[in-house]
Amino acid sequence: MTAPAIRFRAAIPADAAALGEFMARNFIAAYGHCSTPENITAAISKHYGEAAQSRQIADASRCNLIAEGGTGEWLGHAQLHFDGPTPGPVAPRPAAEVSRFYVDTAYHGTGVAQLLMAEVERLARSRGALALWLSVWQEQPQAVRYYEKSGFAKAGTLVFVVGDDPKDDWLMLRALDPAAAPGP
Ligand SMILES: CC(C)(COP(=O)(O)OP(=O)(O)OC[C@H]1O[C@@H](n2cnc3c(N)ncnc32)[C@H](O)[C@@H]1OP(=O)(O)O)[C@@H](O)C(=O)NCCC(=O)NCCS
Repeated sequence: MTAPAIRFRAAIPADAAALGEFMARNFIAAYGHCSTPENITAAISKHYGEAAQSRQIADASRCNLIAEGGTGEWLGHAQLHFDGPTPGPVAPRPAAEVSRFYVDTAYHGTGVAQLLMAEVERLARSRGALALWLSVWQEQPQAVRYYEKSGFAKAGTLVFVVGDDPKDDWLMLRALDPAAAPGP
């Protein structure tokens, strides 16, 4: 399938409510079954609600990227975190965390994910990162498969807490080719 027209922009404070809605909807679609409704609600409130989005948009160590289609519809969202706590196995450094990577369910399998990852990589290089790392639930095979085919490899395990429910994640790591141009 051909990827739709796409452009990227950084989220601004006025996007917080829409970003919260986008993330709640897509988190429930992908992970709503992984724990109790109470834990899912708590996780959304802590990480993805409007207040959390406002804080994260204002955080200079985070880059919040929105992928928009030709009529302004939101196709995906990624967040890069620079200078955050970094798991021991991550190398080379400096490394950037892909702290969020979501394509709207309507656009899965369309190539949006590949374009979003290329933009994430360009941004990470432009800020001097030599590697990308992320944490992904071990029971989410679509995402694990996607990251593997995007050049990430498992480098250990991490825990992500959904409400009060600890989940086993893979730490996945991808070195960035320092010879590649960082782009504009
Ligand atoms: C992860 C994500 C961005 C990938 O985008 P996508 O458009 O689905 O990616 P692709 O279609 O290019 O690749 C997905 C791969 O998983 C495979 N796949 C899909 N469902 C699968 C399943 N249940 N089990 C195993 N593999 C599966 C697809 O066949 C494809 O592999 P292939 O190209 O070898 O056939 C997207 O699925 C998403 O936003 N998921 C929800 C949010 C999420 O989990 N993000 C990661 C958080 S760490």
